[in-house]
Amino acid sequence: MKPRRATKARGKDKPWAGRFTQSTDPSAERFTASLAFDQRLWSYDITGSVAWAKALGRAGLLTAAERDTIVRGLEAVQGELATGAFPFRPELEDIHMNVERRLQELVGEVGGKLHTGRSRNDQIALDERLYLKDSIARVGEGLRRVQEALVARAAETVDAPLPGYTHLQRAQPVVLAHHLLAYLFMLQRDRQRFRECAARADVLPLGAAALAGTAFPIDREALAKDLGFTAVSPNSLDAVSDRDYILEFLAAGALAGMHLSRLAADLTLWATAEFGFVEFSDAFATGSSIMPQKKNPDVAELIRGKSGRLYGNLVAVLTTMKGLPLAYNADMQEDKEPFFDSVDTLEAILGVLPPLLASLTFRTDRMRRAAGEHFSTATDLADYLVRKGLPFRQAHEVVGRVVRHALDEGKALEDLTLAELRHFSPRIDGDVKDAITVEASLRARAATGGTAPAAVRRSLALARTLIAQA
Ligand code: ARG
Repeated sequence: MKPRRATKARGKDKPWAGRFTQSTDPSAERFTASLAFDQRLWSYDITGSVAWAKALGRAGLLTAAERDTIVRGLEAVQGELATGAFPFRPELEDIHMNVERRLQELVGEVGGKLHTGRSRNDQIALDERLYLKDSIARVGEGLRRVQEALVARAAETVDAPLPGYTHLQRAQPVVLAHHLLAYLFMLQRDRQRFRECAARADVLPLGAAALAGTAFPIDREALAKDLGFTAVSPNSLDAVSDRDYILEFLAAGALAGMHLSRLAADLTLWATAEFGFVEFSDAFATGSSIMPQKKNPDVAELIRGKSGRLYGNLVAVLTTMKGLPLAYNADMQEDKEPFFDSVDTLEAILGVLPPLLASLTFRTDRMRRAAGEHFSTATDLADYLVRKGLPFRQAHEVVGRVVRHALDEGKALEDLTLAELRHFSPRIDGDVKDAITVEASLRARAATGGTAPAAVRRSLALARTLIAQA
């Protein structure tokens, strides 16, 4: 049989059109195109292609002149992309084929040599790893700025009592700085998680080609050095078919989002009339279209709300990857939008949170008053009895009866007379009054990690050292 003649109908000029006799249906073309979102990877794609051209040169597959022509051509394409002059063509599916086609237009036939021994499968894995490393650097820096804002507010509030809660019921006094620093240490672990994710992702996938490895004598170690990777993937199937580095990023993002949502939720709660512990600056609040008196903490609420999409993105990619047979599958193109959305969401939160924190007005007077109410130092009375020799379980029982009595009488703990108190335990003396103040309660918790101002000062110093480290 005679070979078929190439026709125009053959898939609108696609780089892979050789074996096709029909053009792609426009609906299929729209459906499979990833250009709308993967174009964000252009600079990484070009960096990878420049390094690949050099590797092909070293392997003797390009002459020095051909290599230079290709590299200069890629630089011209980069210029067009940077200035917005690049002619994007969605019918060429993705950023890889768009860049390659434009290169060929600019440098001619030699541009067709660039894709020797590589595949879009190792190309996209490379682009995503490069983008991941940069994104982690930005997110890490954003987290550090939030930590700096927390340290600044903590430094002002080491001696400011605040009611501490369990079950959202008043529990024991803490200082405001202690509460703020709790978030700082959570974010420190988030920064570590991102850093560890970047370290594990620091492996070169390029050279894995489509799935079986490149067929040319590419020095992958040199290529890794060129592209700033510390290691080379030891298995080509693994290199093109796993996305665990993206999933780790999404998981770290979900955790950070959870921490940030709790901080935002605390502030939202504290800004209610019922609490009245904080006031948002007008610059970080919004009004109501119908209720003229309203000042709403929308920024904090949205920080809380955005944790939802950070979780969703993680679950979306986990679900996409589940059960996929090795190696590359088109399903994996679905990794990008959730990945990018988490990067954008984290950067948006981390951009707005530091100035928001700096602009809060803490109502330390109201916190101070609330910190002493509702028997918040009852544990300190029990601890007092322990110091007088009573086993803690008995002390707990005695103080429980004291509280019951005070509740029946409609009195606060400090309203009870010494005689009333001694009725419950003869071990109680005149020194009890000083033992159950808010200040005494705070001061007592001086062991490392406790809320005593002296201990909090030590934590603050530790926090400062941690955030000074990259
Ligand atoms: N756009 C693709 C992706 O995002 C790039 C790799 C395509 N490879 C392929 N054989 N279709 O995953």
